Amino acid sequence: MIELGINIDHVATLRQARRTYEPDPVVAAALAEQGGADGITFHLREDRRHIQERDVELLMRTVTVKTNMEFGCADEIVDIACNAAPTWGLLVPENRAEVTTEGGLDVAADQGRVAAAIQKLKEHQILVSLFIDPDIKQVEAAAKVGADAVELHTGPYALATRGSYTDELARLSDAGKATSDLGMRLHAGHGLNYTNVRPVAAIPNMIELNIGHSIVSRAVMVGMKDAVAEMRRILDVCQP
Ligand code: PXP
Repeated sequence: MIELGINIDHVATLRQARRTYEPDPVVAAALAEQGGADGITFHLREDRRHIQERDVELLMRTVTVKTNMEFGCADEIVDIACNAAPTWGLLVPENRAEVTTEGGLDVAADQGRVAAAIQKLKEHQILVSLFIDPDIKQVEAAAKVGADAVELHTGPYALATRGSYTDELARLSDAGKATSDLGMRLHAGHGLNYTNVRPVAAIPNMIELNIGHSIVSRAVMVGMKDAVAEMRRILDVCQP
């Protein structure tokens, strides 16, 4: 059965909009586990725009399923990851100006830096996954630097138009085949939602999908009615 990793960064983004204590991504992770998540994914960015070090510490103490910590190759963050010791370290490119992770890691062009981060993580018994575009050259480079898994970037597939949809899905399938042929685990994520997830989940040897924005967005919508009703009940008994 396909494994579902839930990315809780978006809960932290909402909290950071007010620099307050709610909603707490650590509580969201516990609820995601209750809903059937096989893993919890969180991205500690250099600019700390959503997940904070406090979250990483608490998540590592409370999550009972796999932890998948996402980060760039900067030494400071790699050291934090080594200390935290998540199940998986997910290496991504990081650009301060981006709204979200925009493209895959260029492993082929940056082998030295990626390999150094992988070596440090492996010394701490952390499995390593590389977030890459569905490109055979990148898959081969990932195998060469010793990745345990690749996470194929499904963003372009998610944004595909009618004209490009078939090609984008074929790129994912081809890169997925190369990944498993080279003995790595096949993961995918970015932009997956309730309507576009099925063809990606059906790619042979797909093991894990990491999904955040669409699930957090849905949680807001399915929870809105109850949240308003709860405040209504409080106000209804406030005045004589
Ligand atoms: N995988 C990676 C590497 C990501 O950066 C993200 C977004 O933070 C996701 C998966 C989840 O993407 P989305 O929030 O669009 O579901």
